[in-house]
Amino acid sequence: MKAPLTIERDVSLRELNTFGIDVRTRALLRVTDAAQLAAVRNEAELAALPRLVLGGGSNVLLTGDFDGLVLLMANRGIEITGEDEQAVYVRAAAGENWHEFVLWTLNKELAGLENLALIPGSVGAAPVQNIGAYGAEVRDCLHSLTLFDFETGSIRRFTSAECTFGYRDSVFKRQLKNRAVILDVTFALPKRWQPNTGYSDVATELAARGIATPTPRQLCDAIVAIRQRKLPDPARLGNAGSFFKNPVVSAAQKQALAARFPQLVSYQQQDGSHKLAAGWLVDQAGWKGKVEGRAGVSETQALVLVNRGGANGKEIAQLAQAIAADVQAKFGVALEAEPLIL
Ligand code: EPU
Repeated sequence: MKAPLTIERDVSLRELNTFGIDVRTRALLRVTDAAQLAAVRNEAELAALPRLVLGGGSNVLLTGDFDGLVLLMANRGIEITGEDEQAVYVRAAAGENWHEFVLWTLNKELAGLENLALIPGSVGAAPVQNIGAYGAEVRDCLHSLTLFDFETGSIRRFTSAECTFGYRDSVFKRQLKNRAVILDVTFALPKRWQPNTGYSDVATELAARGIATPTPRQLCDAIVAIRQRKLPDPARLGNAGSFFKNPVVSAAQKQALAARFPQLVSYQQQDGSHKLAAGWLVDQAGWKGKVEGRAGVSETQALVLVNRGGANGKEIAQLAQAIAADVQAKFGVALEAEPLIL
């Protein structure tokens, strides 16, 4: 039996991307069930279209109309699936809002996700770019996930190791790009929880609140406050969070830069390489708060590009290119965009 498919045609994506770019898609399907994806695969006209999976639309820059099929993840549901000595296991559907999910876990007295509070987007998008903030990444608590594989038409279960996570990176941005649709994600939330307060902004915020040993909820509240201060709310000013990744350079390159720029902000990695704060590079190059027509750079975080109202994707992409070229010229460092640019 064929599952019924409700395909919407010629739909505006303006409300479906946090940059608020007003482009259209040829077709759109609200995905509530994996059977719909199998049905898409079995219909020649739909199967032939390029696909774009959207969750919260918070990590994409749309530079033109999309001549394909948008799969808008709209499945819901969160449940505790089990526990052992180490952890409680919680499964959330891909279409759940990430921050609401974090709050759900805290309401159940489960900890582990609080440093990732208020990150825009959906649960299903979180593993794709291994979302991270304030010393934590989603891989730290991710146990496994299920996905629909468009190549084979099967539902597959991936362990955390099989996701090959890196900094804002995973197998879903590489080998499985355009192939996998994440359906749900299971998290292992630790029973013996330790607050992760190593990040200097977090330590400063907790000290200002007079908190020495935070509860998960207090840590969440502190993170939310820091984010609200630094990062523009996409509901008010279109943006996709950090537009550039923090570039990773060799120890020699970092040393040479630090000799020229003693204030350089960098973090040593386990393998001896160094991650540079791209926000610092962009800021030093003079771009913070810069206005370029309807596009601009946030006044509070130089890594965040904003839609000041009615900008199109090309204007924002051009601004990004100008910033990257300038940083390359001034520091000899290549900046890589974090969002998917289409
Ligand atoms: N900085 C500046 N000027 C700026 C911005 C930053 O000098 O305009 C300096 C800061 O003073 C600080 C350093 O750069 O010394 C790092 O800044 P911040 O702590 O704000 O973090 P980030 O490296 O710019 C990363 C993530 C964010 C995440 C924060 C907090 C990336 C690309 N970005 O930003 O993630 O919230 O750390 O952990 O890794 C996102 O990915 O969309 C995102 C917002």
